[in-house]
Amino acid sequence: MTAQLIDGKAIAQKLRMEVADAVMKRTALGKMQPTLATVLIGDRPDSAAYVASKQKACADLGMGSVNHTLPADANQSQVEDLVKKLNDDRRVSGILVQLPMPAHLDEERVLSLISIEKDVDGFSPLNIGRLAQKGREPLFVPCTPFGCIYLLEQVGVKLEGANAVVLGRSNIVGMPAALLLIGRNATVTVCHSRTRDLPDVVRNADIVIAAIGRTEMVRGSWIKPGAAVIDVGINQVVDSTRKSGHRLVGDVCFDEAKEVAGWITPVPGGVGPMTIAMLMKNTLHAAEIQET
Ligand code: GUN
Repeated sequence: MTAQLIDGKAIAQKLRMEVADAVMKRTALGKMQPTLATVLIGDRPDSAAYVASKQKACADLGMGSVNHTLPADANQSQVEDLVKKLNDDRRVSGILVQLPMPAHLDEERVLSLISIEKDVDGFSPLNIGRLAQKGREPLFVPCTPFGCIYLLEQVGVKLEGANAVVLGRSNIVGMPAALLLIGRNATVTVCHSRTRDLPDVVRNADIVIAAIGRTEMVRGSWIKPGAAVIDVGINQVVDSTRKSGHRLVGDVCFDEAKEVAGWITPVPGGVGPMTIAMLMKNTLHAAEIQET
């Protein structure tokens, strides 16, 4: 193995401790406890598990949390009324509507209703718009791409002037990751299902962020020697040697890429733990900006 492992679990834990410490100091001063309101619509087990781990993180870090569950057939106005109620609730610092929401709902409308000061996911058009514009600052940055950049910066990978290739253009990861890299003066190429000669494009990258949701699609032969590889993929594959019968792998073929890359994140234990750590950081930030 030539690559150095980027230990997302350890980096996330350090950040969580910093957030917990700041929360404790606030509470000692009698300030409001940062509190996250989550909204879960429907009964997707993966979404329920993500929301449960976000709530547990709040408790672990001394923050408050409240979850609102709506049935899968909730209508648009029920969801919108709940978001408006949470916007007006002074005890709520941050609002997170778990995605994807059921297909009959207008996601764009729901996200645009979240008050910009409580938009801890950074998905409201105002926050994304500011992220996209030169000289403007969003109040919040989406948690997973923020976690990717944080990992790169923590291990000292230089972003300025680097050729960065982002695989995937989703609203949640690929697109905001590209905007963050541009903001740090990287030269960014965003690839997707119609990109031609994908391996050749990736071979030119000093930094690869893979967020395509395709099991081990990025091969070792695609990686430029010494590149930093951030794998956002979480794909379940059958593994009869495990008690659970499955294991998680990324969008990058780790065993091949680790022999070529300079830095690489494992799956699990890379980007995954950073998403929730960033959400906690954003929720603390929400509480801070609302008292000024
Ligand atoms: N679904 C997958 N990732 C996310 C996320 O970061 N925030 C929300 N709200 N939903 C998600």
